[in-house]
This record gives sequence, structure tokens and C-alpha cells, in this order.
Amino acid sequence: MSGRVVVVGSANVDLVVDVPRHPSGGETILGGDLRRSPGGKGANQAAGAARAGGAETSFVGAVGRDDSADLLLASLRRAGVRTDLVWRLDVPTGTALITVDPDGENAIVVAPGANSRLAVESPQAERIAAADVVLAQLEIPLDVVRAAAAARRPGAPLVLNAAPSRPLPDDVWDVVDVLVVNEHEAADLAGHAPAEHADAETLAAALLERVPAVVVTLGGEGSLVARRDTPPVRVPAHRVEAVDTTGAGDTYCGVLAAALARGDDLPAAARLAAAAGALAVTRPGAQDAVPAASEVAALADTA
Ligand code: RIB
Repeated sequence: MSGRVVVVGSANVDLVVDVPRHPSGGETILGGDLRRSPGGKGANQAAGAARAGGAETSFVGAVGRDDSADLLLASLRRAGVRTDLVWRLDVPTGTALITVDPDGENAIVVAPGANSRLAVESPQAERIAAADVVLAQLEIPLDVVRAAAAARRPGAPLVLNAAPSRPLPDDVWDVVDVLVVNEHEAADLAGHAPAEHADAETLAAALLERVPAVVVTLGGEGSLVARRDTPPVRVPAHRVEAVDTTGAGDTYCGVLAAALARGDDLPAAARLAAAAGALAVTRPGAQDAVPAASEVAALADTA
């Protein structure tokens, strides 16, 4: 292992139904059989980082004392994630209700449960202080993101995947080193109305006023890596048949963090992450769809 990643974030059991299309308000539709699988943006990203290889990955999260928690912890351990700092609390494990349409697009509602009680105390802070990269998302309280940022050693970047999108206070903007967002999240955070259809370069330029580096993921159009004082770099997408996009962005973030922890620069890490995300959309589920490092390397070599 040549680097250390700590992922601070959510863990959810995903209740997934394939649907012919997503229902409108007040509408009932029939879907396929219910699937129950390990998810949650934080846990998915931890699985992505661990499966990427080369970086020891710890997960700081919170689950309940129910069988959903057992499912999640077993999945994380299978992926090679250290789970000794996960809180087990007397509240239900987070649950995500997910519909997936025939194009692989999803719609998700999360009941946060234990995720909303996550805290960083001394053991978690010590592990974070030993990390080369700290990765967080926004399915947990903002105070936890603040605490994770405060526990870092100098020079260890905080990578924030600002999903799900929500406004960020100034003191959170100030601790982010690398922001990873899709186009919608980028537009929200840059204060652009969706109807404006600003391009990724414009959005990234606006976000660079708040953070030193931004990665805008663009689905089938690849991603844009933007840093202050350096021309932006476009990373192309791999052409794949999408089955289920759930968690593909999380795989992307986890692999990106692992590559940064191993010493890759941001564009190189984004190329590897793009290959991992592309493989993830070809498989159903979130953590179940995270590819092995060898598959990622093979696809990345074809670009
Ligand atoms: O990003 C996908 C994840 O979002 C799902 O696994 C679900 O749990 C929600 O957190």
C-alpha cells in the first residue's frame, strides 16, 4: 500500500426497483422485483477506493444495529475497507429508495437514519490525521465535513463530492481542496439557473473562485479537470452500454481519491476514475458494481 484514504460519509441499504419510467407525482406504476443491496455515497466511495488497490482505505460512517448494517459492513469488508471506526447506533441504518429506468437512469430518495448522527471523535480524528487524502460527500451533517477537514494533517487534500447538491457555507468552501461535481451540482453551486445551460468550462471557472481544483463529471461526455493557473483538461468518456448508473459517480470519486493518495496528479487520477465509472454503469447496483483494479487498468489503457 502506498497511500491512505479515509472516506467520511453515508452508508445506506439500497431498495431498488426497475421501472418502465419514473412515476410522476400522485402516480402509481408497477415495476420489477425488489432488490436490496449495499449503497450510500460514502460507503460506495470507500468500496471504490479500496478496490482500486494501492491505498489503504478506512470508512468513517454510522449504521444501526439492524441487518441492513450487517449487509453494509460485510460488503465493505469484502471490498477491503477498514470498518473498525464505523459507529453502530440505536437508530435505523440509512435507506435509499431507488427506481431505475430502462436507460439505467435512477431517481433516489434517502432516509438518512444513522447517517444524520455521524460524528468525528478522537479515534476517527486520529485515522483522518494519518490519511493522504480525505474524501467526503453531503449525505452527512456539514459539521462532520468540517470536523474531518479540521482533523487532516497539513498537505492532505480534502476531496468533496458535493452530492446531493446543497448550498455550502463559506467556512466549508474554504476547506475544500478538490471539488467533484456533476453538471447539475456544478450549476447549483456556481449559482447558475438550469435553463442557462452554461458549459462545463464556464461552471468550472466560476467554482475555481471558491476552490483550488474542480472536476466536473459529464456522463457520456467525460469529465473536465480544472485547476487554478493551469489550462483545463478534458478527459474523454469510455463508450459503454448503461445498465444502472447508480453509484457510478461514487466509484469515480473513490478511484480518484485512491489514485491521488498513491501520488497521481489530478488528470491522471481522473482518467483512471473515468474507466472505473464507465465499468460501474454496465452492472446493476452500487457497491456490487465497483470494478476490480485490473479491469479498470485494462479499460484505462484503451483510451
Ligand atoms: O450515489 C448513489 C447512492 O446514493 C446510492 O447507493 C444511494 O444509497 C444514495 O446514497
